Amino acid sequence: MLFRAAARSLSSPARQFSSSAARQSKVTVLGAGGGIGQPLSLLLKLNPHVTELSLYDIRGAPGVAADVSHVDTNSVPHLTSIKVNGYPADKLDQALEGTDVVVIPAGVPRKPGMTRDDLFNTNASIVRDLAAAVARVSPKAHVLVISNPVNSTVPIVSAVLEKAGVYDPSHVFGVTTLDVVRAQRFLAGIAGADPKDVPVTVVGGHSGATIVPLLSQTPYGKVVTGEVYKKLVHRIQFGGDEVVQAKEGAGSATLSMAYAGARFAGALLRALNGEKGVITPTFVKSPLFADQGIDFFSSNVELGPNGVEKILPIGQLSAEEEELLAACLPDLKKNIEKGKKFVSQS
Ligand code: NAD
Ligand code: LMR
Repeated sequence: MLFRAAARSLSSPARQFSSSAARQSKVTVLGAGGGIGQPLSLLLKLNPHVTELSLYDIRGAPGVAADVSHVDTNSVPHLTSIKVNGYPADKLDQALEGTDVVVIPAGVPRKPGMTRDDLFNTNASIVRDLAAAVARVSPKAHVLVISNPVNSTVPIVSAVLEKAGVYDPSHVFGVTTLDVVRAQRFLAGIAGADPKDVPVTVVGGHSGATIVPLLSQTPYGKVVTGEVYKKLVHRIQFGGDEVVQAKEGAGSATLSMAYAGARFAGALLRALNGEKGVITPTFVKSPLFADQGIDFFSSNVELGPNGVEKILPIGQLSAEEEELLAACLPDLKKNIEKGKKFVSQS
């Protein structure tokens, strides 16, 4: 019962699901043995839109797959049990064969005192090599990038696919949902409301000052002012550090990230299955600030059967948000350029 209730809340209300539109969706997790990968794989197993789950890691994926495969949930199209397969280090291509959606949480997490950019040296090549495999084996897949630094890893994945001649910008997403989850949770705490009634759009990128919550656009957020506002913005921008410090060197957010990743994957799967009006912030190739040389940006995006359907404008900003945006753009530009340069020099 609990699992089914969780599956419903992470996918979609049953009334919005149209079984006639349902399609087969194979989802592959690259990095499935890790702190995020394991709970994310479990949550994906609960999603009725997932018909096949393919779990890959350089360590431990077959074990995670055996474990997750015992969960007694069905996928919707044929009410059959989801196929779950685990693949070891040398079976990356097999893991990716025929996949519709690839989720990438592979790579190292931060320790206290590190920035996300400090992960670049290790994670850039991991993500580049995984993207090259996607380009080779499943070039039409939708790719959801979780590995940090997202502001650079999304341009890396995009550049690798472009180099291979298979890049579709509407298929590549940086998962920034955890910023939205935190913004809703923290604002709801201040407002004494249910987080589900406190939607917050978060734009920009996914690290410190590049995370720009648009609190003025929400009824609960626009009344938060002064010191409370400053502290709330800081907590949303640096929520990741809060977890890194509390874990004392044992990693960064894994469980809240798995929830956020499953929520974003669920939104995309609903849109791929024909649901209309699925709108969520995500870091994508974007025209919004391209005239300033920033061609990736997170904003509200309408998802559809082909991934990105429409990139929505960021809307009216308060004076404080204009300042946050001004601080975001130069950092974001550097992070994006660093990712692109890495691929062009590889
Ligand atoms: P982890 O160390 O627990 O797990 C990472 C996994 O990746 C490990 O199982 C490892 O074996 C695997 N891996 C390494 N190289 C691989 C490769 N070439 N192919 C396949 N798998 C490989 O780390 P974690 O806590 O799960 O975090 C993973 C990444 O997600 C980090 O970069 C972290 O910073 C990032 N993260 C992003 C967000 C976000 O909001 N986007 C939130 C939290 C964490
Ligand atoms: C987060 O926001 O929790 C992640 O990006 C992980 C981190 O390094 O903070």
